[in-house]
Amino acid sequence: KQYTALLPAAGIGSRMQASVPKQYLCLGELTILETTAKVFLSHPAIMQVLIVLHPEDKWFSQLSLAKDSRIQTVTGGDERADSVLAGLQASNPNEWVLVHDAARPCITQSDISKLISSVEKQQCGGILATQVRDTMKRGAKDKVAETVSREQLWHALTPQMFKAGELKENIQNALLSGAAITDEASAMEWASSPVSLVTGRSDNIKVTCPEDLALAKWFISQQKSEEVV
Ligand code: CTP
Ligand code: MG
Repeated sequence: KQYTALLPAAGIGSRMQASVPKQYLCLGELTILETTAKVFLSHPAIMQVLIVLHPEDKWFSQLSLAKDSRIQTVTGGDERADSVLAGLQASNPNEWVLVHDAARPCITQSDISKLISSVEKQQCGGILATQVRDTMKRGAKDKVAETVSREQLWHALTPQMFKAGELKENIQNALLSGAAITDEASAMEWASSPVSLVTGRSDNIKVTCPEDLALAKWFISQQKSEEVV
């Protein structure tokens, strides 16, 4: 066991419009955060799970997860990048970390393994991603300006795996320069560091809006019947 998983879970889930932050909504027996954390805790290559919590979080301590000795928590910030930075401050700079949205509970053991294998083989950071399927249009107001070739377009998913120290430095510098940092890869790209695209499963959705909850439940039940979890 050699890698740390860093789960940003400090968001408030405004688009979910629930009475608690979405990571604390239930997907059956467990909350979204517990479901996500369990996949990493049971992966043979993961030694530690770092969870980033909102400064006023009052739910995490009530979960049985809080008692797991392999879990450490830190306090996050206003934006996702600030929360990831807080997690990276608590990480060993020479270690590889897998940053994964707490709100992506359908992540599978096999996709985690696939990402780790790619990074180990290439000794280069990487992300799970899926190729765009729909025809893509660039818009100009409400009219189509042009069709954009989808051949080179990917949806960026998580986990995203990088050396903790390099990622921290790149996020810090990119933020200082005013660049928009919406995922870890964007900070690495800002520093012209290579990022591998590793094809992941398209059911690795981010629970964002109310309708995503039923979808996530269904994907997880499907995975159980496929035995891919
Ligand atoms: N996140 C975080 N710190 C923030 C914002 C987001 O740790 N300041 C986390 C969320 O908890 C989530 C992941 O980053 O696990 C992806 O963010 P997103 O889906 O945008 O979640 P929220 O910001 O909570 O939702 P919304 O944008 O709808 O408010
Ligand atoms: Mg958000």
